[in-house]
Amino acid sequence: MKKRIFSGIQPSGNLHLGNYLGAIKQWVDLQDEYETIFCVVDLHAITVPQDPEELRKKTLEIAKIYLASGIDPTKSTLFVQSQVQEHTELAWILNTLARLGDLEKMTQFKDKSEKNEKETVGVGLFDYPVLMASDILLYDTNVVPVGKDQMQHIELTRNLAERFNKRFGETFVIPEGKLSKEGALIMGLDDPTKKMSKSAPSEYNYIALSDTAETVHRKIKKAVTDSGSEIVYSDDKPALKNLINIYSLLSGKTTQDIEVMYVGKGYGDFKTDLAEVVVNFLAPFQERLANISDDDALAILESGAEKARELARIKMKQVREKIGLLV
Ligand code: TYM
Repeated sequence: MKKRIFSGIQPSGNLHLGNYLGAIKQWVDLQDEYETIFCVVDLHAITVPQDPEELRKKTLEIAKIYLASGIDPTKSTLFVQSQVQEHTELAWILNTLARLGDLEKMTQFKDKSEKNEKETVGVGLFDYPVLMASDILLYDTNVVPVGKDQMQHIELTRNLAERFNKRFGETFVIPEGKLSKEGALIMGLDDPTKKMSKSAPSEYNYIALSDTAETVHRKIKKAVTDSGSEIVYSDDKPALKNLINIYSLLSGKTTQDIEVMYVGKGYGDFKTDLAEVVVNFLAPFQERLANISDDDALAILESGAEKARELARIKMKQVREKIGLLV
């Protein structure tokens, strides 16, 4: 039997190269080896305010992005989180096991809530990792391919599963996180000490999957670089290392190949070529995306939700029995 993979993305903000290289690209590559389930996690997105019309549009767009990236609906199950109600039911049950102290340590919560007074931070934002744990545990997931920023949430998921199993008997599979080698954490183009992020204040932080060729060239031209002029892949040059990682992941060339290609050349040549590599990836991707109709995407999501509901129903029956609810 194949091991099972589950992962998801929130329909908020602009999807960027970090999301693609850290998460989606791995998913595409893992579809044959694993049984794969991919979700659009709309209930996570509403932990910060969303415009309802925008949210609906974005949810469908993320599903289309999965498809345009190469997620194959004949191999993978694709669905929208809010269409399988067991996610919220399990989240409530896991809430009764989750500890305030553990949730307070989550860096994503700390980052997102930093700007607000504690009194005004939403409870949903705080509880976000428990809903994520329920997404994963509901499907007996073995492996969760994500970017490095999500590993702390997976650790929490493992702890919750272990706590539940210890108290009520073996119920949940203990999942493992899986990182892409060089894409594990793509950094901001304007600041290599911070991750590339959908919610970054400057558009020069990220390359959106929807960026035009002209925008890509402009953003890469403005990307910060390190001191010196040689193209070398090293921890001492974090800005360049990040750009070489993007180049390598999108072109299939190794980081060493790229160093050799640019011996005797400077940042200017390197950046022009990198922009071309990015555009050569984005242009056909955007064309595939434009050719997927709403109706096709909706039909795929509906049949995915049916499959997911069936799995979730069976798991929740076990959970209810274990904890003493009437079944
Ligand atoms: P989200 O929507 O913030 O990000 C989606 C995926 O993109 C990865 N990612 C990155 N990878 C590399 N470099 C970056 N700069 C970068 N930025 C984002 C994230 O690690 C993630 O894999 N909580 C999750 C969504 C979620 C989920 C789940 C994931 C909800 N339930 C169950 C896995 C399993 C999130 O906010 O991802």
